[in-house]
Amino acid sequence: MRAIQFPASALDAGNLPLIFSCSGIFASLLFRSLKKGRFPALRKTPGIKTTNPTGAMTTPDQRRRKHSGMTHDLFPRELLEPFDYDPLTRVVYGPGSIDRLGALSREYGALRVVLFTDPGILATGHIDRCLQSLTAAGIETTLFSAVQPNPSTDDVDAGVKVAREAQADFLVAVGGGSSIDCAKGVNFVLTGGGSMKDYWGVGKAKGPMLPLIVAPTTAGTGSEAQSFALISDAVTHVKMACGDKRASCRVAILDPELTLSMPRSVTAATGIDALSHAIESHVTKKRNSVSQSFSRRAFRLLAGALPVVLERPDHLAARGAALLGAHWAGAAIENSMLGATHALANPLTATYGTTHGVAIGVLLPHVIRFNAEVVNDLYAELVSTLPAAAIAAASGPGGPLSSAGEILAGFVTQVVRQSGQPVSLVELGVEESRLPELAQAAATQWTGTFNPRPVDAASLEELYRCAYSA
Ligand SMILES: [Fe+2]
Repeated sequence: MRAIQFPASALDAGNLPLIFSCSGIFASLLFRSLKKGRFPALRKTPGIKTTNPTGAMTTPDQRRRKHSGMTHDLFPRELLEPFDYDPLTRVVYGPGSIDRLGALSREYGALRVVLFTDPGILATGHIDRCLQSLTAAGIETTLFSAVQPNPSTDDVDAGVKVAREAQADFLVAVGGGSSIDCAKGVNFVLTGGGSMKDYWGVGKAKGPMLPLIVAPTTAGTGSEAQSFALISDAVTHVKMACGDKRASCRVAILDPELTLSMPRSVTAATGIDALSHAIESHVTKKRNSVSQSFSRRAFRLLAGALPVVLERPDHLAARGAALLGAHWAGAAIENSMLGATHALANPLTATYGTTHGVAIGVLLPHVIRFNAEVVNDLYAELVSTLPAAAIAAASGPGGPLSSAGEILAGFVTQVVRQSGQPVSLVELGVEESRLPELAQAAATQWTGTFNPRPVDAASLEELYRCAYSA
């Protein structure tokens, strides 16, 4: 796929929308045709039959259409859905903005900070920069640099012990989603007592929590925009989603310079995960006009930036676009949750230790095709922002595809192939005989309940089979 070129002035975040919209003119001309299905079916959609297992449209869509007195072309259906948007996190963006960490912490009253990170980030030198900034601001800092990938209750317990000994009045996390989630988990237990399991669910915090400033070093989870901590039970390996508005970050420092140190494999896995967040959050049952604004913005940024950062990892403007895209996708999740792709991916990580973003890359195209039965028009909104070259590449030598869902699925597969990640479960070493068992586990995932097209163990197994040797 041809890389998009970013001018040096693109370092101004305000210019980014222009970069991605210029090459999307042709795509927007396609938009109406895609929504109305004007293109003949030149390629048969593989995978699941298009018949809805329930025999009916999803309830939210029925409701939206029933009460819609206006045309969808003029006003999105989501304007009939109420929302209560209460942003809790200040966003500080820009190359070099990590040097404001000390001043920002001081601004919110920090005296004794515990800084959470992982050994890999510690080795990059980013933490030295953070410590210098905190020290210059007169803040006493204790380092906790032992956070593991997919943090568990053991990580949280160890972090709580360190924070108690340091008499911390403020928390900082610098790293990927694991460090950020670990700091949030520590905050729950440190301020409310008990164990992490006591906070599994929504709104379980037991009082005020310590202020938390985070700086992501990957463009992936968007955890800095969310009030949820994902912590695995160290014994059962079940991932617990612990959410409370009080756990939200006070400040998110988005410094693209911090993401330059990511190895290509991490750039790929986290970036594809972020792309899935934009796509899944755009169509969930809980979507609303606020979440969709974030989703569309995130998709446009990520779809433009990922092919570039995979080829030119030192491209600071593209790194900035990916970081912002991942952040807005995280903000979308906070308002609309995720879908079946994540329900299917989690059992692969639990059973085979598959990297989250790698599992997502295999499964997402198949879930898009499955969901296109009920949300193809929403996928068309995303496809309309793709550059013409990307649409052509997604369509392949066979020419234009018949639906927005097919184009979007093809685009995701293109990015996954470009990244060098696997595109099938066979390549991941998944045993075909275990698909029913994996589907049973996927059917218990909370995130699946938000998928726009209902899923159950049977349909999830069928999706695994579509992805098996794709
Ligand atoms: Fe994810």
